[in-house]
Amino acid sequence: MTQDELKQAVARAAIDYVVEGEIIGVGTGSTANFFIDELAKIKDRIKGTVASSEATASRLRGHGIPVFDLNDVESMAVYIDGADEINAQGAMIKGGGAALTREKIVASVAKKFVCIADGSKLVETLGAFALPVEVIPMARASVMRQLAALGGQPKLRLKAGTDQPFITDNGGELIDVAGLKITDPVALEENINQIVGVIAVGLFAKAGADVCLLGTADGVKILS
Ligand code: A5P
Repeated sequence: MTQDELKQAVARAAIDYVVEGEIIGVGTGSTANFFIDELAKIKDRIKGTVASSEATASRLRGHGIPVFDLNDVESMAVYIDGADEINAQGAMIKGGGAALTREKIVASVAKKFVCIADGSKLVETLGAFALPVEVIPMARASVMRQLAALGGQPKLRLKAGTDQPFITDNGGELIDVAGLKITDPVALEENINQIVGVIAVGLFAKAGADVCLLGTADGVKILS
């Protein structure tokens, strides 16, 4: 099976976690996109969605699926999203697709986080994937120095094909931190959250995935 077929398989399996008549939080990225396409097939059975990025909102609307502003939503049954890395405890690195801050906000409101990922995302120790950190632009250099002091190699994410910073949906910039061997994800998440100028870190450890649907050659495995 190709990586895309594995992603499609977990996207289909995630439909079992959609709660009828409720609002569903929807993540960002290629796996989340496959999920949106599956969700479209049962759109009449849900109240609507909250999107974790402008790209996701636009894909949802393209399918005729209602998208609510999070401020107008009192409860959300489930949040469904991909990950760049996940460990057996459900701690994740996210933000390769630049949506980490809104993903974290939407996930924080949902009762349950269902991670959907192809098997290559499961790791023993997080950190081989450079950890994304969203920052207020004026704090970029100061935050980078503090991330280097934590042992990482921070690099400003650039807009593809330019030497200009990539700008997120929130007007922030992204620093990707390579070289971290994350043995205590909860502690590192807390440390980075405390750096002044950080908007959000793409480490989802304190509130990680409740369930992970992992696409493998032997079928979809459920980690919980
Ligand atoms: C988006 O910001 C990310 O957190 C994605 O959830 C993550 O990068 C997984 O993306 P894919 O599903 O494209 O691998």
